[in-house]
Amino acid sequence: MLEVHLLTLFPEAVEAYLRASILGRARAAGRLRVHVLDFRRFATDRHRTVDDRPFGGGPGMVLKPEPIFEAVETVEREFGPCRRILLTPDGQPFRQAMARELSGEKRLLLLCGRYEGFDERIRLGLEWTEISLGDFVLCGGEIPALAVVEATARLLPGVLGDDQSAVQESFTDPCLLDHPHYTRPAEFRGMRVPDVLLSGNHQAVAEWRRAQARARTLERRPDLLQPPSSGPPGPEAQPPSPDRGTRNPPEAEARDDQPWTSSEKSKSST
Ligand SMILES: C[S@@+](CC[C@H](N)C(=O)[O-])C[C@H]1O[C@@H](n2cnc3c(N)ncnc32)[C@H](O)[C@@H]1O
Repeated sequence: MLEVHLLTLFPEAVEAYLRASILGRARAAGRLRVHVLDFRRFATDRHRTVDDRPFGGGPGMVLKPEPIFEAVETVEREFGPCRRILLTPDGQPFRQAMARELSGEKRLLLLCGRYEGFDERIRLGLEWTEISLGDFVLCGGEIPALAVVEATARLLPGVLGDDQSAVQESFTDPCLLDHPHYTRPAEFRGMRVPDVLLSGNHQAVAEWRRAQARARTLERRPDLLQPPSSGPPGPEAQPPSPDRGTRNPPEAEARDDQPWTSSEKSKSST
C-alpha cells in the first residue's frame, strides 16, 4: 500500500481526479491511500496568509516558509517520515524510472507550488526530490502532482487490471517506445491490420512488436537510444532483451548526488 500526502492550496482541483477511474479503484481496494491537505490551514495570521511580496522587488508573490514547514512537520509527526517531492519547473524531469522508484516507497509527500513559487528556504531547510513535469510553466503544482501520483500508483501490484500492462509499454525497457496496437475490425476504411498479428504465431508477433518498437523509437526519439555519456552502456551496446523485461536500476536516473536533491544543493550553497 502506498500512502500519499498531497499538499495544495486547491484541494478541490485534485479531489475529483483522485476519485475517478483507476486511482479511485486503487483507493477503494486499499492499495493507495491519499490525504489531500490545504496548507493554508497552517498559516497563523488572521487572514491565513501563505504568500508575500518578493524581497528585492519584482512581480508576483512567493510562498512563505512558515506554513509549509509547519504542514510538512505536522504530517510527518502524525504519519511518519515521507519521501518528499517538490513540484517545480526547475526540478529533475519526471521519467518512468522515477515513477518506478517512487512505487517502492511507503509514504510520499507532494508539495504543489503556486504564484512565483517557493521561498528558497523551503528547498534549503527541508530535504526534497524536486520534480518537473516538463519544460513549460503551469500555474500550479497540482497537475504535475497528479501525474506523479498516477504514474506511480499504476505500477503498484494489482492496480492495473493486468499487471503485464505496466511491463509492456513505453519506457519499460529503459529506452524503447511502445509498439503499435490494433483491435477489431481487421480492416477499417482500407487500412488492414498487419497479417502477422492475425497469424496466431506468438513468436512472430513478439518479434514484429520488438522491431516496430525499435523502429518507432529510432524515428521519434532517437535520443532514447543514445548511450549515456558516462555510466553503464546504453541499450545499443547490448542485445535487445527478448521479453522487454530489463530495467534501468532506479539509481541510474535518481541518484542522491543529482543537483535536484536538496541535500546536494545545500552543500553547494554553503
Ligand atoms: C507559475 S509556477 C512558478 C514558476 C517559477 N517562477 C519559474 O519560473 O520556474 C507556480 C508553481 O507551479 C508548479 N509548476 C509549474 N510548472 C511546473 C512544471 N513544469 N513542473 C512541475 N511543477 C510546475 C510549481 O509548483 C510552481 O511552484
